[in-house]
Amino acid sequence: MRKVITYGTFDLLHKGHIALLERARALGDYLIVGVTSDQYDRSRGKINVNQSTIERVDAVRATGLADLVIIEEYEGQKIDDIKRYGADVFTVGSDWRGHFDYLSKYCEVVYLERTRGVSSSQLRDGSAPRVKIGIVAGEELRGRFVSEIQSVGSLEYMGCGGISAESMAEVVDASDALVVAPPFADRAGCISECLSKGKHVLYVPPAFSSAGEFREMEALARDRGVLLFNGVKTKYLPAFRHLVLMIEGGAVGDVRAIDLSCSQVPEGDRPDSPTGGCSAMEQWGGLALLPVVELMGCDASRVSFRSFYEPSGIAYYTRCALEYPGASVQVTMGRGIKTEGDMVITGTKGYVYVPAPWWLTDYFEIRNEDLRGTRKFYWGYEGDGLRYELLEFVRGIRALPVGGRCTMPEDEWYSVMAAKCFEADREAMGSCDD
Ligand code: CTP
Repeated sequence: MRKVITYGTFDLLHKGHIALLERARALGDYLIVGVTSDQYDRSRGKINVNQSTIERVDAVRATGLADLVIIEEYEGQKIDDIKRYGADVFTVGSDWRGHFDYLSKYCEVVYLERTRGVSSSQLRDGSAPRVKIGIVAGEELRGRFVSEIQSVGSLEYMGCGGISAESMAEVVDASDALVVAPPFADRAGCISECLSKGKHVLYVPPAFSSAGEFREMEALARDRGVLLFNGVKTKYLPAFRHLVLMIEGGAVGDVRAIDLSCSQVPEGDRPDSPTGGCSAMEQWGGLALLPVVELMGCDASRVSFRSFYEPSGIAYYTRCALEYPGASVQVTMGRGIKTEGDMVITGTKGYVYVPAPWWLTDYFEIRNEDLRGTRKFYWGYEGDGLRYELLEFVRGIRALPVGGRCTMPEDEWYSVMAAKCFEADREAMGSCDD
């Protein structure tokens, strides 16, 4: 029996895919089709895929042309598959000509002429109008968002506004959706302004200084039928997603502790204020609390904050301690000082080590008693990494009319934590005044 193997994303299955599968099948007696997983596509920068892995696998199966459908999950898998399944022929379309010649060591390699005039990219462009998106942010974040927006095909960039009413109005009116990331003091006001005008909002947490304020915004978003999206970028990076899945799958046993820190010395020379007027919690609250909420949930039995302050009263260093049944968490945030910036997740079987800066995760290690058993994992990300959360934002917007939700249950928790931290600050400053 002559076995043929082929691979692809097969998004929005079209006649070019079917023609390829038919001709691939005709090259032998048994056809194996590898469909890329969502994670794998993301990790190699193909982030505009419309359908999930399951939908794409179902569509390939429904053609009746494949004898076996497998999932392609990592670079290098093709060689493993060819050996494992004993494939005699590897084939793909002519757009890949030359690219897979290295596989001819293992089997015959055939490039089939690509069908002209059709592609998933074309269908995606025509399948839904692009979301018009603008930015309301301080100088620090603008540039990074602009280039990332331009890399996401389903977004159309409409411009950038500052926080003043006039400069904001123009970009808000022209857009369907806004990235809202001004300094903390203006964040909630800008979000409210955008939601009131019926615009979808991606905000950088923490944005609200109490749970009540968050709930007000959530109600406003529901009322206007728009998405209020908590934009914690690290959550959507391929390596971080894998890390969470592996820990949930028991890779280190039961989690007993998380220790992490985040810090930044802002650019710009302000000898009077190394923090530049932004507290550690205001800058880092969202990112620093992400692994905690993802791995431990929101039901900490005790939470405490301890900060150190500039003479102006801005906290440049904040330590948050959380207790969970059987586990403890230590989160350190700094602004205007520099800490190591790594993360250790301690479990009953081993621990995960994520080197600094862990919030730009592309690499981590799972270590245990026997250091020779250390496993190393790498999942790169494209550009600045913001494109992954932007894509999720677009997905959320498109899912809204069919029952998508406005916010996730844990989104409120960031505001609860910010409120506790600011309360602790007020108490500490009050006791200084006394
Ligand atoms: N293919 C083809 N003819 C087309 C489109 C795709 O023969 N018009 C082949 C590709 O060469 C590949 C397989 O179908 O071997 C799966 O391709 P995939 O990348 O999933 O489809 P595209 O339409 O090329 O997707 P995109 O536009 O996202 O690159």
